[in-house]
Amino acid sequence: KQYTVAIVGATGAVGTKMKEQLLKRKFPIKDIKFLASARSAGKEIDFGGKTYKIEEATPEAFEGVDVALFSAGGSVSAKLAPEAVKRGTVVIDNTSHFRMDPDVPLVVPEVNREDLKKHNGIIANPNCSTIQMVVALKPIHDQLGLKRVIVSTYQAVSGAGMSAIEELRVQSGEWEKGKDVEAKVLPVKSEPKHYPIARNVIPQIDVFTENGFTKEEMKMINETKKIMHLPDLPVAATCVRVPVVIGHSESVYIETEKEANVQDIFNILKNAPGVVLQDDIHNQDYPMPIFVDGEDPVYVGRIRKDLFQPNGFHLWIVADNLLKGAALNSIQIAEAMIEDNLL
Ligand code: A2P
Repeated sequence: KQYTVAIVGATGAVGTKMKEQLLKRKFPIKDIKFLASARSAGKEIDFGGKTYKIEEATPEAFEGVDVALFSAGGSVSAKLAPEAVKRGTVVIDNTSHFRMDPDVPLVVPEVNREDLKKHNGIIANPNCSTIQMVVALKPIHDQLGLKRVIVSTYQAVSGAGMSAIEELRVQSGEWEKGKDVEAKVLPVKSEPKHYPIARNVIPQIDVFTENGFTKEEMKMINETKKIMHLPDLPVAATCVRVPVVIGHSESVYIETEKEANVQDIFNILKNAPGVVLQDDIHNQDYPMPIFVDGEDPVYVGRIRKDLFQPNGFHLWIVADNLLKGAALNSIQIAEAMIEDNLL
């Protein structure tokens, strides 16, 4: 069977990768629509050597669409995902809008593929930092039991969209020329203050919530519990933007229920789906964002046993935030649904 696919937000950082991944993975496409804002309507876009016209994302645009991949911001999903579902479209939504809705499965296929069966038309793609962490933690949990997770992230600007990539590029040039850098996008476009990202790190991603954690940090906390079906797992997160274009890195501390050593964790991760173990300190081999750009797997290295806490371990986890963190995971969800006769 072949499917009519729509990409909502086709001109964006994630939408562009969705387009590439559909081609690369030979998704069974009957027809495809590229949707974006009215600003882009009428512009041309290339797909596999054929030229398509970008259309404005409207409710009617979903007529005849089997599966729509949304990545145009939460407010667009809030408005248009229900309209698409009304027209018989299955929505795979990359925004945070529906993720914590109990009627919406939040899925990383390597972790909780079976949750797809419970869908009611919308499936949520988790937060980019959450996806790469749970891909590595799930196999560890299955074998050793997870008791606690503490994560600090080093997140690339592409997670904040094309305008943030452009901001880092322009600021890097301004610095080179000795000019004062101007900040307009990061940490959060709609917030009153903006800070340079070139030569800086910003300990704020998304807005602050009442408890002092940012929304991004709360996404990592709540989504991890939902995806792993561990509502009582203690998770803490500190999310930081760094001047990297593509590739989120994470320093993750875990405590396991069962006693284990580093070799046990190596053995678990060596055989884990979607994971590449890259941990050879004697050859200075460990994951770094510049090398994961364009790669599918989640890379794990720097695995150490804590020196003081029994069953405490430290890991370094890196993945392409636009691929496994967004576009690739969305398409893997669609592929799993096809295989499981859900689409
Ligand atoms: P457009 O290029 O027409 O503004 P990014 O995450 O890289 O910033 O990209 C955001 C994506 O969401 C773009 O494709 C953008 O299209 C799209 N988008 C933004 N606002 C809307 C809207 N109101 N309706 C549909 N698409 C939108």
